[in-house]
Amino acid sequence: MSSKIAARMDRMVPSGIRKINEKALAMERQGEKVLHFEIGRPDFDTPEYIKKAAYKAIEEGKVHYTSNFGTMELRQAIADKLLRENHVAYKPTEVLVAAGLSEAVLSVLVTILDPDDEILIPDPVWLNYLNVPYLLGAKPVQYELKEENDYQLNIEEIKSKISDKTKAIVIVTPNNPTGGVLTRPVLEELARIAISHDLLVIADEVYERLIYDGSEHISIASLPGMKERTFTLNGMSKAYAMDGWRLGYVAAPEEYILKMNVFHQHNATCASSIAQAAGLAALTQEGDEVEEMVREYQRRRDYAVKAINEIDGVSCLCPGGAFYIIINVKKLGMPSSQVCEYLLEHAKVAMVPGNIFGQGGEGYIRMSFASSYENIVEGCARLGKAVAELMKK
Ligand SMILES: Cc1ncc(COP(=O)(O)O)c(C=O)c1O
Repeated sequence: MSSKIAARMDRMVPSGIRKINEKALAMERQGEKVLHFEIGRPDFDTPEYIKKAAYKAIEEGKVHYTSNFGTMELRQAIADKLLRENHVAYKPTEVLVAAGLSEAVLSVLVTILDPDDEILIPDPVWLNYLNVPYLLGAKPVQYELKEENDYQLNIEEIKSKISDKTKAIVIVTPNNPTGGVLTRPVLEELARIAISHDLLVIADEVYERLIYDGSEHISIASLPGMKERTFTLNGMSKAYAMDGWRLGYVAAPEEYILKMNVFHQHNATCASSIAQAAGLAALTQEGDEVEEMVREYQRRRDYAVKAINEIDGVSCLCPGGAFYIIINVKKLGMPSSQVCEYLLEHAKVAMVPGNIFGQGGEGYIRMSFASSYENIVEGCARLGKAVAELMKK
C-alpha cells in the first residue's frame, strides 16, 4: 500500500532528546552505567500531600469527566495563585485547565494562528513552539537568545522581525534550554512593542518557581496594558514534580478561553479529574516542599557551574532559573551532536545537543541538573576527562 502519511508530518521535527535517551537506555541494557542529564523532568517524587489528595479523590469517586474548562475549585485556586504570586487579577472564568501545558500550548496556537500567520519564537527554545505553528501551516519566526546577551532577547531584533503577518510573540522565562530569566527592563520594552504593534504575547512560565538567588520572575501580564493581550501559560509539571500527572493551564481574556475550550473539548475533553484534585491540593496546601526542591536544585547548579567552568575547553553562564545549564562547547571544534555522541559513548554521560532547540543552540549542549548531587559530581568529573581527551585530538 502507498504511504498515506500527511505531508505536514514532514515539517515536524522529532524530539532529539528522545534519540539520546533511547541510545542511553540501550547502553544500559548492555550493562553500562550511564548518567542521565538529558531529560527535562524533576528527579524528585511528587510531594506526599499532593498524592494523598489524589488517593482521596479516587476514594470519593471523583473519577468522571469534569467540566471541560476544569473544575471551578481548581480554576479559582489558579486565579488566586496568579493574584498572590504573579500580581495579575484573573477571574476563574479566565482560566482553562489543560491536560499538561503542552496541551494548553496547542489550544492557544490553534485558537490564534491562521495559515501563513507569523509568530515570533525564541531560538533556542522548547520544540513545541516550533512544531505546532508548522503543524498549523503558520510560520514561526525565530529571534535569538545569545550567551553574550545573557540570554536576554534583543528588542531591536524583535522589532526588525515584526511584519504585518505577525500575530504573537512567545516568551519562555525562565527558558528551556538556556535557563535565562528575562529581566524587568526587557519585559517592559517588549510590552511597549506588543502594545504599539497590537500583538498578543504568549508567556510560558512553567519554570517560574525554579528561580535562584539573584533572579526575579516577572509575569508580563502584570505590566500595564498587558493582561488583555497575554496568554499566561503554566502547569504543575516542574514546580510540583507532577510531570506524569499531565496538568497545565492557561489564563487569558475570556473571549479566548471560550474559543480555546471548543478545541480542548474535542482534543482532550478535560484534564484528568484525579490530577485536577491533586493540583488543587498542590496550590492550596503547599508547605515548604517546593522551596526544599528549589534549594537542592540550587546546590546542584552551584556545584555544576563551578565545575564546568574549571574544565579547559568548555564554559557556561550561571542559569537564573529552570534546571538546565547550557554549556558552550565551541572550542572543541565539532558539532554539538558529535560532542554529545562522544560524551555518551566515551564518558557514559547523556546530554543533549543545543541545536535540537533551534540553530541558535549549535555550539552548545544542554545538561539538566534534575539529577542527584552525587550524579552531578560524578558527571562533571567524567565530562572533564572526556573534554581533556577531545582537546588533545
Ligand atoms: C518551556 C516548556 N514549556 C512547557 C513544557 C511542557 O510542560 P507539560 O509537562 O506541562 O506539558 C515544557 C516541558 O519540558 C517546557 O520545557
